[in-house]
Amino acid sequence: MINFDYKNDTKIIFGKTTEGRVGEECIKYSDKVLLHYGGGSIKKSGLYNRIITSLKEQNITVIELSGVKPNPRLSLVQQGIKLCKEHGIGFILAVGGGSVIDSAKAIALGALYSGDVWDFYLNINSPIESLPVGVVLTIPAAGSETSGGSVITKEDEQLKKVVAVDFLRPKFAILNPELTLTLPDYQTSCGAADMLAHVFERYFTKVKNVDLTDRLCEATMKTIIYQAKKLVNNPKDYEARAELMWAGTVAHNDLFGTGRIADWASHGLEHELSAITDIAHGAGLAIIFPAWMKYVYKENLDRFVQFASRVFNIDINFENLEETALKGIEEVENFYKYLNLPVRLSEINLDESLIDVMAKKYITDSNKGNFKSLNREDCVNIYKLAF
Ligand code: NZQ
Ligand code: ZN
Repeated sequence: MINFDYKNDTKIIFGKTTEGRVGEECIKYSDKVLLHYGGGSIKKSGLYNRIITSLKEQNITVIELSGVKPNPRLSLVQQGIKLCKEHGIGFILAVGGGSVIDSAKAIALGALYSGDVWDFYLNINSPIESLPVGVVLTIPAAGSETSGGSVITKEDEQLKKVVAVDFLRPKFAILNPELTLTLPDYQTSCGAADMLAHVFERYFTKVKNVDLTDRLCEATMKTIIYQAKKLVNNPKDYEARAELMWAGTVAHNDLFGTGRIADWASHGLEHELSAITDIAHGAGLAIIFPAWMKYVYKENLDRFVQFASRVFNIDINFENLEETALKGIEEVENFYKYLNLPVRLSEINLDESLIDVMAKKYITDSNKGNFKSLNREDCVNIYKLAF
């Protein structure tokens, strides 16, 4: 195990009807709130009205900015920053999924910055402060409700970039699993694929003696797989939704990364894919991850054997460990198929010539990934394996 610092101070409020407490949480920070949300699901479900009622009960002035698209766009972030500066907003409330939360975090950064917020995403400047952000989560997936990350797309250049700083972690996250009952099946599946990927990124490490975090990861992976399959057959299962919602948060609150070196190359490869195609992040990961696994498993065969054995209960063939490892990877792919997600780039009709473009955009200078250090040619090979 390697040395680490760990701090995650997002307050979690979990359970039925908890969105009714949003006003009392927001007023701790400001009486002027930017309410940020997506394309309309919260109005259709009635959640919007309940949020407004709770905010009004605390006499909070609400300025609204809706229209966040999946793979959230920089242009809307710029509008939000302008609104915050004009109205002297003191708090940003994100009601939605990872896209809304990430957009809210970008606005929170830009509201206190005199330059262009995109500077932070291009590493031209480092953020030092932001407005506080709070969350009412409607889809368990990205884990942005407790992460310090924000992923934004600059649409005119098809660039999808990440900022990650500790102070961007939301002040609170309200997690009511009932709010996820309106999710389309496809979005539920994409969410499960994303949270599983967040565990994979941390689990596949070369750091030795990380048994506690290994076991925490394995328990979470098993839970995600089991509960997500249950939801394919019964999307109204509240208990399965509750398990998945909590799993999505713990998968990405950084506890599982303590004492080890995470990889993150598959996320980078997927971000290039969603920047170009606008595919849902979770679906993109269902395509990329099996290919990455097939490409890198020999780097640490024992780890892939452990994964196959402990997560999928595959009997270890001590005469042929590679066979065991490959069976585990096959089970990952089978899981995505069960969730009706694509597992090949050909299924989404990607133009094969874009492989080189994505690899070039991803590997601009140094190699990426830690489990296996990937150069541009490796990335091309992984995309080809995913075809
Ligand atoms: O916009 P509305 O109408 O709300 O519809 C949304 C959207 O179309 C819909 N939806 C959400 N909750 C719903 C619902 N529909 C019905 N009922 C509900 N309860 O679902 C669609 C997808 O929403 P989105 O927010 O895009 O999903 P997700 O949470 O998967 O977020 C994806 C984004 O997060 C980034 C991804 O790259 C992607 O841009 N990520 C952010 C991370 C972070 N900040 O830490 C880490 C992740 O690895 C990821 O990269
Ligand atoms: Zn992700």
